[in-house]
Amino acid sequence: MKQVSLMLSGMVLAISGVAHAADLVAGKAAFETKGCVACHGADAASSVAPMYPILAGQHEDYLKHALNAYARGARNAPASSNIRKNPIMAVQVQNLSAEDIVNISAWLATLPSDLSNKRQ
Ligand code: HEC
Repeated sequence: MKQVSLMLSGMVLAISGVAHAADLVAGKAAFETKGCVACHGADAASSVAPMYPILAGQHEDYLKHALNAYARGARNAPASSNIRKNPIMAVQVQNLSAEDIVNISAWLATLPSDLSNKRQ
C-alpha cells in the first residue's frame, strides 16, 4: 500500500513537472512591454480601431492556438499545419517566447469583457 501511494505521488510530481503553470503576472507584463497595448488597448478590451480584435475574456486555449498559428505562418510552415498569415501579427509574435504565449493567453482569459459573460 505504501509503495502504491509512493508511486502515485511520484506520478503526480512527474506530471506537474511537465505541465507549465501559466504566470499571470508575467503575462500582463509581457503584454505591456511587448507592444500589444498599442493596438489591442491596455485592458485588451478597448482596441484602438475596429480591425484589432478584443482579446480580453477570450478562451485561453483559443488565444494560445491563435498566437502559435501566427508564429507558424511567420515561419512559412505548410498551410496544412493550421497557420495564420497576417502581416501585422506575424511581426508581433517574433518577439514572443513560448512562455510569453502561455502567460499572455492565460492572463488575457482572466480579463473581464463582453466575451466572458458566460463566466460571470
Ligand atoms: C500593430 C497592431 C497590433 C499589435 C501591436 C498587436 N496586434 Fe494582435 N492583432 C492585430 C490585428 C490586426 C489582428 C487581427 C489579425 C487577423 O486578422 O488575423 C490581431 C490579432 C490578434 C490575436 C488573435 C485574436 C483572435 O480573436 O483570433 C491575438 C491573440 C493577438 N492579436 C495578440 C497580440 C499580442 C499578444 C500582441 C503583443 C505581442 C499583439 N497582438 C500585438 C494587431 C496588432
